[in-house]
Amino acid sequence: MDRLNNKVAIVFGAGPNIGGTIAHFLAREGAKVCVTDVNESAAAAAADFIRARGWEAMSLVGDARNDADVQRIVATTVERYGRLDVAVNMAGRVHWDDVLSMKLDDWHDSVASFATAGLLTTQHAARAMLACGAQGSIIHLLSTAAHFGEADGAAYCAAKAALLNFARSAAMDLAHHGIRVNTVTPCSMEHQLWTTMRDEMFDPNWQPPARRGFYSRQEYLDQLPLRRFPRASDLAWATVFLASDESSCMTGADLPVDAGLRFKYPTWTPGRHDPRDINDYARATKVTRYGEAQENLTDLLGDPIDRS
Ligand SMILES: NC(=O)c1ccc[n+]([C@@H]2O[C@H](COP(=O)([O-])OP(=O)(O)OC[C@H]3O[C@@H](n4cnc5c(N)ncnc54)[C@H](O)[C@@H]3O)[C@@H](O)[C@H]2O)c1
Repeated sequence: MDRLNNKVAIVFGAGPNIGGTIAHFLAREGAKVCVTDVNESAAAAAADFIRARGWEAMSLVGDARNDADVQRIVATTVERYGRLDVAVNMAGRVHWDDVLSMKLDDWHDSVASFATAGLLTTQHAARAMLACGAQGSIIHLLSTAAHFGEADGAAYCAAKAALLNFARSAAMDLAHHGIRVNTVTPCSMEHQLWTTMRDEMFDPNWQPPARRGFYSRQEYLDQLPLRRFPRASDLAWATVFLASDESSCMTGADLPVDAGLRFKYPTWTPGRHDPRDINDYARATKVTRYGEAQENLTDLLGDPIDRS
């Protein structure tokens, strides 16, 4: 419970899901935390939750897309707590749409929400860290959307991918100041199921609408090697590690907290194994040379494969 003693942290985007959970865990490990959100009551509720448990927290309202707001939030935090060591950014709104019908305003808001907010939170936090001599840690929350193409997700995927490479570049710029920049990548979260996914998706007879990016909870779960969705606490533990001196030799890194999804062979469905004997498989496999089918694999290999 003391991994972040004497540290001061800001969390940008502090609703009760990921941001509020991260703020709670940072405070529980000893950090003084400023929780900020564009929604004033969300920031205040997170700070109240933390203080009610006996830890230190303050709340500020502000828009992470806005230069003056981010500057004010950082300055007020330093004024109140005397320094800044940790900044965690996950603020943003997601706009789902097909590229054919995407509205330009939604595209601009996605880029502002994730890429521009990434720049502003990093820039102002790093300046404050430098000014107070802190070997700081800056952490951005990504999404598997930063690493893959997703139907209906072009704006979100592009903006999160921009944030990923921004964070890597910022890590290089700030390394010689001793300031680290890392990212955390979750896939779809457990809380998403009860906050934004629709009840019908739990009905086995439910048919997804024509929208291509839509799939059921079970279809998603079937692709996760650990067969469970990440929880906000899983992300909070990864963030505590990146915020603490335990990760002092890590920068420019991305921690996947995705039940194994990103490093799974894409066409493999966990739990499904081909029951065929490998020799049957080899007998059924034709070798081609110069584009023409030749002998099968067992003829080529000679003796059957001994698997004992
Ligand atoms: N929920 C998921 O399944 C999931 C999966 C992968 C990645 N993520 C990412 O995790 C982060 C948080 O997700 P969540 O599920 O907790 O979302 P959420 O919507 O519950 O919380 C986001 C918070 O950010 C605030 N916010 C939005 N725009 C802001 C802005 N411009 N300035 C300041 N605050 C702003 C909102 O008011 C809200 O309180 C997001 O970056 C999201 O892209 C979520």
